[in-house]
Amino acid sequence: MSDIAAPEIAIWQRIESTARRVFSLYGYTEVRTPVLEKQSVFERSLGDTTEVVQKEMYAFEDRGGRRVALRPEGTAGVMRHVASLGQEGEEARLFYLGPMFRGERPAAGRKRQFHQIGAEFIGAPNAAMDVETIALQAHLLREWGLKNFKLHVNTRGLPEDRKKVHESLRALLDPRRGELGEEDQRRIDVNILRVLDSKDEKTRAVVATLPPLTEFMGEGSRSYLRDVMAMLERLELDAQVNPTLIRGLDYYVHTVWEITHPALGAQDALAGGGRYRIAMGSREIEGVGFAMGVERLVMAVQQELGAEAVKAARAPAWLVALGEAAFAENFKLAQALRMRGIGCGLDLTGRSMKAQMRAASRAGAAVVVIRGESEMQKGTFVVKDMATGSQVEVELPELLERLSVSRA
Ligand code: HAM
Repeated sequence: MSDIAAPEIAIWQRIESTARRVFSLYGYTEVRTPVLEKQSVFERSLGDTTEVVQKEMYAFEDRGGRRVALRPEGTAGVMRHVASLGQEGEEARLFYLGPMFRGERPAAGRKRQFHQIGAEFIGAPNAAMDVETIALQAHLLREWGLKNFKLHVNTRGLPEDRKKVHESLRALLDPRRGELGEEDQRRIDVNILRVLDSKDEKTRAVVATLPPLTEFMGEGSRSYLRDVMAMLERLELDAQVNPTLIRGLDYYVHTVWEITHPALGAQDALAGGGRYRIAMGSREIEGVGFAMGVERLVMAVQQELGAEAVKAARAPAWLVALGEAAFAENFKLAQALRMRGIGCGLDLTGRSMKAQMRAASRAGAAVVVIRGESEMQKGTFVVKDMATGSQVEVELPELLERLSVSRA
């Protein structure tokens, strides 16, 4: 769990404000669900044999003896919310951003408190909906300045294909039990799809030899995937089918996808999503959505944009005073500027001119405004451009003009 502060915070803020703007272009509204919820909300929707539920959830009994958990992801809480909306929830488009919690082994890009930006689009299976959702996600990534991401798509098939997929996989894997990792031998009986997701080297070697899951599915599932791929191509979105992509959560049906980025190394999933069917209360909610890890987005942005990534931070003006009278005026001026929306700073402790200039460059000021006795008498200000070193003496209207320009 980490503090997030300057200089990276500038990237976080840019990512978040861009997300809000782009989501609104697609008609999404924000939803903020509680960080702490009944444990059953997560168990039932993510599936109680998933890694996230079995091993990673921060779950405990509260003071009233209720089983609660810190949310490990956003979809379950949003579904609980959607179920409470009644008919209005039937075509909802909702987005969220905020902290999630998973007790994983920490590594670069893998935190126990991490942050997601996610979206859920409620509605019955429809390839156009899935593709619009993927397009929205690619739009966000491009808007953040990312180009080197890869989109991997697969299908989990229609629910009616599930039995056949499981049985066919079992027929292939049962005779090869001994070749799998220990944990995965158990998974064959508990939740066989998890075997395909395994990180165990031995298991992965076996998985690499399996035929694509679509071979065990009916024509409905296959043609749906074909439609999705064709529509992605029409939108000129580069995507490849990855026949063993499963995704680690049980609620998925039909389309699933993952986006990877080379900046992330072993933890290379920048984002994941898919179509789901989730039972919540008396309702069965269908929809499609995704979530991206903000820590990982920040790493990718830093790698692709370098120093540009933090340049977005607004450089303030700095007011420098020579003498007490000038300080008293600057103190008042600073408040007036801030109230006009112009950010500025000044030394409050009566330090020397040299120390004040040092403070200005430490603060990253683009412009320094200097006032001494003679400027006070003339009613002028010396404005120094910190990038070029050039200086001009101006009166108040021009000072305001210049500071408004440097603010933009
Ligand atoms: P997920 O694949 O479990 O999907 O997580 C989505 C993203 O969250 C990952 O691709 C990764 O970038 C980030 N992430 C996950 N765990 C960590 C961690 N420990 N540290 C840092 N980043 C992490 C979901 O959560 C689904 N709810 C996505 C979804 C929404 N599917 C449909 N709708």
